[in-house]
Amino acid sequence: MDKIRRTKIRQILNDGKSGQELCVKGWVRTKRESKNVAFVALNDGSTINNLQLVIDVPKVDEELLRKITTGASLSVLGKLAESQGAGQALELLVESVEVLGEAHPDEYPLQPKRHSLEFLREIAHLRPRTNTFGAVFRVKHEMAYALHTFFHKKGFLYVHTPILTASDAEGAGETFRVTTLDLNNVPKTEDGDIDFKQDFFEKETNLTVSGQLEGELAALAVSDIYTFGPTFRAENSNTARHLAEFWMVEPEMAFYDLDDTMDLAEEMLRYMVKHALEHCKDDLQFLNKRAEDEEKAKPQHQRSEMSLLERLQFVADNEFERVSYTDAIEILRRSKPNQKKKFQFLIDEWGDDLQSEHERFLVEKHFKKPVILYNYPKGIKAFYMRQNDDDKTVAAMDVLFPGIGEIVGGSQREERKANLETRMAEMNIPSEELSWYLDTRRFGTVPHSGYGLGFERMIQFVTGMGNIRDVIPFPRTPGNCEF
Ligand code: 4AD
Ligand code: MG
Repeated sequence: MDKIRRTKIRQILNDGKSGQELCVKGWVRTKRESKNVAFVALNDGSTINNLQLVIDVPKVDEELLRKITTGASLSVLGKLAESQGAGQALELLVESVEVLGEAHPDEYPLQPKRHSLEFLREIAHLRPRTNTFGAVFRVKHEMAYALHTFFHKKGFLYVHTPILTASDAEGAGETFRVTTLDLNNVPKTEDGDIDFKQDFFEKETNLTVSGQLEGELAALAVSDIYTFGPTFRAENSNTARHLAEFWMVEPEMAFYDLDDTMDLAEEMLRYMVKHALEHCKDDLQFLNKRAEDEEKAKPQHQRSEMSLLERLQFVADNEFERVSYTDAIEILRRSKPNQKKKFQFLIDEWGDDLQSEHERFLVEKHFKKPVILYNYPKGIKAFYMRQNDDDKTVAAMDVLFPGIGEIVGGSQREERKANLETRMAEMNIPSEELSWYLDTRRFGTVPHSGYGLGFERMIQFVTGMGNIRDVIPFPRTPGNCEF
């Protein structure tokens, strides 16, 4: 007999016809069994929905049937039929079944019930088998696809910037060192310092915190580029929004000013959300229900006013609010939580940095929509941001989202060589180390701008997952580099 090719469950549920002979493969979610018939819910990750298998119990070997348990993998041949039961339109009447791999019920940690996310993090190697993580992975894939499509349609080039680098683009000193030196026997110079000349790259190197500086080099040659890759930060923040390894999308545009950049960021974010609403319906419905159940467990005053789907629709349909840092500080200073000292960090004066509690107040309580803050004090921002004429602020912007806080950070870049050099000197950044960067200002400099989107934070927003550790397969956080 000719081998029947495997059909994915998503395709079967979308356009399968009663009477079709099919081969399906996947993992058992649940099995219900009576004397004559067993119902098995099979999932292959192509969709959140399971295919119901109907097994004629007297016709199959007892031993084989016993091996069909939650988590076991099957290869099945059968005939598609209209389902008699509620809950599905089609089911597969099994003609033959092979157990590819058993999952012994006494040992397999995933059972057909809701496990806590904390427990699932401990078994991150198996959690992709759950409905929740399957849904998150599929949405994440669609969001990456949407990003590439968005930029491709606009004529942006996808550029790969290095992961190993000698620069600290953000200048925050939160880099992970890269070395091949023997740490038990570190070579020293005559002065007693570490002799990096003997290291692999013959200089101090680290993992990149951002592809921006190299991205700028490309934008100043081909106009519009974006990077999309892993970035690494040794911030010791154990929060629900920080990872030590996360992915960033960084577009960089020649001839864009700050307004153009805010327009692009808003258009991109709303494009992504619309794409999710259109292309991830089943998964979002599942995640919406999951988020609703989670909300119900919270005290009334902490519950969000909108469901996940309502929040996504709201972002798709409404323009973001644009507010200057100076106006935002006034709003925050006069706000109830500031007056009543409810904020952990009180806002005293112009120049204070905003914490996530302030960002979320502006978005969730004050404006009740995504907010773009712009023109920040230069003292709290990176060296490369363009200085405004007021001599106090730089042309920076952050996009703030409900439930997340900062999701995008960007700026117009300082394209004037003299200004850039002055700022670097003020911030003690040696110009020798960035001579290649300064060269772009020496030769054919142009006004240009860009921003970075934290990809996992975006996935958190779209999936409604409260903790960033649950939207990346293998989260890296302080003290945690398992798997
Ligand atoms: O605001 P950031 O630090 O900006 C930059 O790195 C710029 N070089 C981007 C650019 O202009 N090309 O980071 C950008 C975004 C943040 O808004 C946030 O969403 C995300 O990256 N991010 C993190 N996400 C997860 N874990 C962390 N530790 C993050 N740090 C920043
Ligand atoms: Mg930032």
